[in-house]
Amino acid sequence: MESLIKGLHHITLVTKNFQVNSWFYTNILGLKRVKLSVNQDDIFHRHVFYSNPNSTVGSTITFFEWPFLEEGYHGLGSPHHLSYFVESLEAIPKWKSWLKYNKVPVSEILYRNDRASLYLRDPDGVIIEISTRIEGEVDAAYISELNKLEFDVRNISSDMKLVAFDHASPITANEEVVARFFEKILGLTKGYSILNPDQENTRIVAIGNEERNDFLRYIYAENAAEGYVGIGSIHHIAMAVDDEEDQRQIMRKLSNIGIRNSGIIDRLWFKSLYFRDPNGNLLEIATRGPGYTVDEKLEELGSKLVLPPWLEKYRNEIELRLAEQDRENPSNIPPHYKSLRLPPESL
Ligand SMILES: [Fe+2]
Ligand SMILES: [Fe+2]
Repeated sequence: MESLIKGLHHITLVTKNFQVNSWFYTNILGLKRVKLSVNQDDIFHRHVFYSNPNSTVGSTITFFEWPFLEEGYHGLGSPHHLSYFVESLEAIPKWKSWLKYNKVPVSEILYRNDRASLYLRDPDGVIIEISTRIEGEVDAAYISELNKLEFDVRNISSDMKLVAFDHASPITANEEVVARFFEKILGLTKGYSILNPDQENTRIVAIGNEERNDFLRYIYAENAAEGYVGIGSIHHIAMAVDDEEDQRQIMRKLSNIGIRNSGIIDRLWFKSLYFRDPNGNLLEIATRGPGYTVDEKLEELGSKLVLPPWLEKYRNEIELRLAEQDRENPSNIPPHYKSLRLPPESL
């Protein structure tokens, strides 16, 4: 049976500073800000979205601004990294040159299974992978040639565009339990399970659907410890369904099995359903529609603070509190980056 899950919808993280975050994701990663709003469950803090403006699905990275949180660390319940894909292989060394030019910490190009990947850290310490698929035989000499390429990149060319997410990597301590969970609740299957080239005694466990067998690539470490979701962490991973009917079907399944869930919540741009995987990672099922243009014109997306109608009555107080928060939370641009821990997919 075809899975109701159509792939990733969005990934939400935590930032310390909205100004720095906006500067980085638009100027350095070349994404478009498509929504500037507040966290609907914590309305005096921002929620900012960057995406392909024509689509809610598969490419939106969003951030809650929580300046006073501690720094997060990876582990169970606190996913490890996310990955974007680009369409051309040449884009990977170009990204490396561009990031170096901007003094962003970046890894060498690494061969991963069937991909060439590059890793960087954003100003909050989030690990971001940029990858592309490689067809045919690849050997170490080939990758080393790629690493020697240097480009004079002064802006993000169209072939470098981050198209959509390739995968997200949460952490699990039990491969079989997590695979069964996705199969039973969401109709997703284990695509493959391979040794993790970056760390002994750990594996990469792919979960996906018939179209993409690995939009989730869990890092499986039997003795993984609990993580903490703080600044620089992935807060939750959202997967897409076509409509609310499919979402309701998943909610019924969760309830029948006795898995706690949020019920369906109207987020204005889509509807959301939240629950946790067996390792405590927060997941969301979100509908494709109605989309970001429901309250703003396409050309104005993300340009000003928008609130869902039910929060408009708090607008004055929200704006005051955000201004106060900004005064206490200065933004340093360009930021001081943390170095990248290598190898990148180790715990
Ligand atoms: Fe990865
Ligand atoms: Fe979400």
